[in-house]
Amino acid sequence: MARGAVNKALAARLAALEEERDARVLVEEAVDVTLPYDRVPAGARHPLTTLMERVADVFVAMGYEVAEGPEVEAEWFNFDALNFVPDHPARQMQDTFFVQGADGARNDESGVVLRTHTSPVQARALLDREPPVYVVCPGRVYRTDELDATHTPVFHQIELLAVDEGLTMADLKGTLDHMVQALFGEGMKTRLRPNYFPFTEPSAEMDMVCYVCRGESVGNPDRPCRTCGSEGWIELGGCGMVNPKVLTACGVDPAKYSGFAFGFGIERMLMFRHNVEDMRDMVEGDVRFTRPFGMEI
Ligand code: FA5
Repeated sequence: MARGAVNKALAARLAALEEERDARVLVEEAVDVTLPYDRVPAGARHPLTTLMERVADVFVAMGYEVAEGPEVEAEWFNFDALNFVPDHPARQMQDTFFVQGADGARNDESGVVLRTHTSPVQARALLDREPPVYVVCPGRVYRTDELDATHTPVFHQIELLAVDEGLTMADLKGTLDHMVQALFGEGMKTRLRPNYFPFTEPSAEMDMVCYVCRGESVGNPDRPCRTCGSEGWIELGGCGMVNPKVLTACGVDPAKYSGFAFGFGIERMLMFRHNVEDMRDMVEGDVRFTRPFGMEI
């Protein structure tokens, strides 16, 4: 009888202890499923990269192919094929990082350079393909510019090249208008101003209507515009009809084919598209700058 009483007491005590443990475990080991699962932020691509891809996508949607070329480039592609005569000022030391002379010695006359623009990809694309050629080339370029609010020695450009039978300046203008409408909204326009590039003839500087004031700040002191400085237009980059000399240098018959090209800087576009006042913010790697652009991966 005494044994039965002890067993009963033991069972009761065990049950009480288990119940107490289960209740404690439920509290102590509770998982808050609303907590972030990872304290290390996922990270995101740089706003320059996402903008560059967004611009390229506009052209991919129109049937253009993305083309690439090396950043360490033969001087022939960077300059000669593009009709830069040997004493063109852009070849001098103030603009170009010369890597190697043609004979392997370091000098500033010929050989290998860090590409100063994405235009050498025009020559590479034409040599690699049979016309018709429709390519877009996003990429990094280098110039011996000092880092300041509006310049950086390492920056990005996007280049477009179309070579086909019967292309005219009207096709160039229509393509530019489509691009600014796709990137900045309905009703945006571009304008061309005469300019000179050795590899396009005729050449033009391209501007787009200021997407903030849409030109309404011009001559209107009550409504000044900080984005365009009340000019009504924002400069985008250079463009023109591909110089027949470039077509010939790349083995394309200028009697049969014509083409247009344009190129512009992505840093400058990011500046006016997002009101970034200082280009240095883009290169310093501070997440306080990049975070407001979102976490697009
Ligand atoms: C060119 O580089 C030509 N290859 C553009 C071109 C392509 C013309 C096809 C005709 C046909 P430019 O030197 O103007 O042109 O440079 C183009 C853009 O690069 C400028 O409008 C500017 O937005 C940007 N850029 C130039 N230097 C710098 C720099 N140091 N930092 C940031 N952006 C720059």
